[in-house]
Amino acid sequence: MKNFLITGGAGFIGANFVHHLLAHHPDYQVVVYDKLTYAGNLNNLADVSDDPRYTFIRGDICDAATVARVIQEQRIDTIVNFAAETHVDRSILDPDAFIQTDVYGTYVLLEAARRFGLERYHQISTDEVYGHVPAGHSSLESDPVAPRSPYAASKTSGDLLVQAYWITYTLPVTISRGSNNIGPYQYPEKVVPLFVTNALEGKPLPVYGDGKQMRDYQWVLDHCQGIDRVLHAGALGETYNIGTGQEIENLTMVEILLDELAAPRSLIQHVEDRPGHDRRYSVNIDKLRGLGWAPQHDCEAAIRQTVRWYVANEWWWRPIKAGDFREYYERMYGNRKVLEPQGEKPAAG
Ligand code: NAD
Ligand code: TYD
Repeated sequence: MKNFLITGGAGFIGANFVHHLLAHHPDYQVVVYDKLTYAGNLNNLADVSDDPRYTFIRGDICDAATVARVIQEQRIDTIVNFAAETHVDRSILDPDAFIQTDVYGTYVLLEAARRFGLERYHQISTDEVYGHVPAGHSSLESDPVAPRSPYAASKTSGDLLVQAYWITYTLPVTISRGSNNIGPYQYPEKVVPLFVTNALEGKPLPVYGDGKQMRDYQWVLDHCQGIDRVLHAGALGETYNIGTGQEIENLTMVEILLDELAAPRSLIQHVEDRPGHDRRYSVNIDKLRGLGWAPQHDCEAAIRQTVRWYVANEWWWRPIKAGDFREYYERMYGNRKVLEPQGEKPAAG
């Protein structure tokens, strides 16, 4: 395991993982293969661009011929697949690209890994494959999958293909299922960077429904360390959850974020809920702890550290929010119904 193909490496987690690999493994070569969709951004990799161990190639994981050529030319022995369409709200508006990339693209990479006899194929998956998790339970890797959004269904399909390639062809695979990541370089459609940057712009923070949905917000580099641990110590054919092992309500996340910014709670605006919104995700992380990994930040520390990064890095997010993002924001939030302030009765009359 020495020559890595990091698909989707110009996105949020992939770019953080590239930083992690180059910093911790001096003998590794890293090829980023990325289509550069709206979410891909070479600014995420700007500070490694001069590293001789790093190469960037623009390409689509659905393009089997180019994938094969890159694997041969770059002598790839390991694929870590981050490439995906990743935003639940976009999957509700338009699922097509999710099926293409997250399902068909995964198949193309698996076939290439099989054809060229790679040492490892690692699939980056999500806790959303478990669907809504009732109070009192935390998802185990052995739990049945029960995806409820087009995004979650496409990621689940990818996982099932990976498992099938292990069972059928003994392809050396591993899967990791991460909870919500936050930190540097996250595209500001996702809730934490959206809310920090909206607050910095003096705009409302659109909280879906009552804001009591629960998520496990983890620091992205803790997730990257967990993936590294799975790659180096995980058992073939196995799946590992990665998170903080703690979950908080969205409203609590918003309050921590506003406190860190010293911004007023009056920026909170409850809006019409997301259709099929999963109320709670929660992962049991004991299996990966058993391999000697542990998260270094709880949700609150991760949120505070993330807020500080966006405050210090306006160069990164301001151009994104001034570009095509404005169209998306208008489409997603422009006509969204604003709800009565929570806890207050509608005015009589
Ligand atoms: P992201 O949206 O920030 O980045 C995705 C990257 O994939 C982009 O660089 C994009 O250009 C690239 N890409 C998309 N389609 C492609 C294609 N067909 N071919 C090549 N490249 C393509 O995503 P992220 O948040 O960094 O997520 C990375 C992975 O982690 C995804 O598989 C996602 O499902 C998973 N995940 C994300 C989270 C989270 O909280 N963000 C949590 C758990 C798991
Ligand atoms: P998101 O970052 O989209 O991640 P996911 O849906 O994959 O967990 O959303 C995280 C939580 O924040 C989720 O419960 C939905 C909620 N949310 C809002 O309340 N308002 C928003 O504008 C967005 C984007 C999300």
